[in-house]
Amino acid sequence: WKRITLNHLASKYQKGDPITMVTAYDYPSAVHVDMAGIDICLVGDSVGMVVHGHDTTLPVTLEDMLLHCRAVARGASRPLLVGDLPFGTYEESKEQAVASATRMLKEGGMDAIKLEGGTPSRVAAARAIFEAGIAVMGHVGLTPQAISVLGGFRPQGRNVASATKILESALALQDAGCFSIVLECMPSPVAAAVTSSLRIPTIGIGAGANCGGQVLVYHDLLQMMQHPHHAQVTPKFCKHYGNIGAAINEALSKYRQEVVSKEFPSAAYTPYRISQSNVDDFI
Ligand code: KIV
Ligand code: NA
Repeated sequence: WKRITLNHLASKYQKGDPITMVTAYDYPSAVHVDMAGIDICLVGDSVGMVVHGHDTTLPVTLEDMLLHCRAVARGASRPLLVGDLPFGTYEESKEQAVASATRMLKEGGMDAIKLEGGTPSRVAAARAIFEAGIAVMGHVGLTPQAISVLGGFRPQGRNVASATKILESALALQDAGCFSIVLECMPSPVAAAVTSSLRIPTIGIGAGANCGGQVLVYHDLLQMMQHPHHAQVTPKFCKHYGNIGAAINEALSKYRQEVVSKEFPSAAYTPYRISQSNVDDFI
């Protein structure tokens, strides 16, 4: 299978076919996303929360991202690979943004990068990265890297000023050269208005059905999280397409029980033989 390209995505969008996107963080999740026929595989900085157990995405470094990106790139050969620029790696200057994005392609094996926000400096960073020859995806609405100023993981665009800011950011990011924009956590009519104002596809998450495509976090859609005290709660908008956490828990508990009861390993799982004379000489 050939790799999905920006041209494939554009023609899909033109035909009215929804674009599918899921996150992956390592080799096995990348293989699963690829085998399911997903269009875009996002190595999200949500890795900090769902894989490393942080409460926010802020601690994630570029080195962390590069390690996860390389593992994903080895596992997914068909989806377009998009990697998140983590907090603190693109806000300072256009030069810093281009340098970080370049590493995501050269060292991480990504096809494109994603960055958050639509302020003039973020738009300038997106433009500089695009002009350096790197495909850029935007991300507006709830931008988790801005949690310090947003004051929590809460929906955006619920008043005219906030909705206008989302629309203006999206238009500016499109003008800067973005091939697509993630719309996170906003009322459906706002996402619909943004989507119809753009010529590039929007990818929604908690933004309703009127987007060019949809994205969910791997661990959320699979219901991977089981620990009752875990900080990561599956967001309201996430549908559970499986209960993989429960399946894992069941399997691990059964394994533990069978080792304790000496049911495992039975003869069937004790495959290596040695002749009796060797046993006699050895012992
Ligand atoms: O990091 C991430 O998983 C994301 C998606 C939720 C869009 O940015
Ligand atoms: Na992200």
